[in-house]
Amino acid sequence: MIVSELTTNSVKTGCQTRMVVAVRRPTDQIIRIIVGDGSRSMPAMVDAGPDRTSGRGLAIVHRLTRGRWGVTLLPLGKIVHADLAVAEPPS
Ligand SMILES: Nc1ncnc2c1ncn2[C@@H]1O[C@H](COP(=O)(O)OP(=O)(O)O)[C@@H](O)[C@H]1O
Ligand SMILES: [Mg+2]
Repeated sequence: MIVSELTTNSVKTGCQTRMVVAVRRPTDQIIRIIVGDGSRSMPAMVDAGPDRTSGRGLAIVHRLTRGRWGVTLLPLGKIVHADLAVAEPPS
């Protein structure tokens, strides 16, 4: 769901130059989803009212990651990352 929401957002920017999707493991505890695009427009959570059919994607990402997502602005675009906590193995 996170990959779907972030890639859809990148497509909607109209930036046709590039998109990068990656999954990384920066630490044992974190799985990091990364979606980069060639637009320097910034993602921003919006307050979608009950009747709106859009505007909930980043709120979903925010909820699923417990707020652990962010944006890194680059000279020719940006990278949006979303971190998922790896479940502790049962003891
Ligand atoms: N990758 C992106 N590049 C530029 N703007 C973005 C990007 N992702 C999100 N946004 C901005 O943040 C807004 C909210 O995104 P989202 O919560 O996914 O709602 P929606 O995509 O339905 O508009 C978008 O309408 C857009 O203005
Ligand atoms: Mg969206």
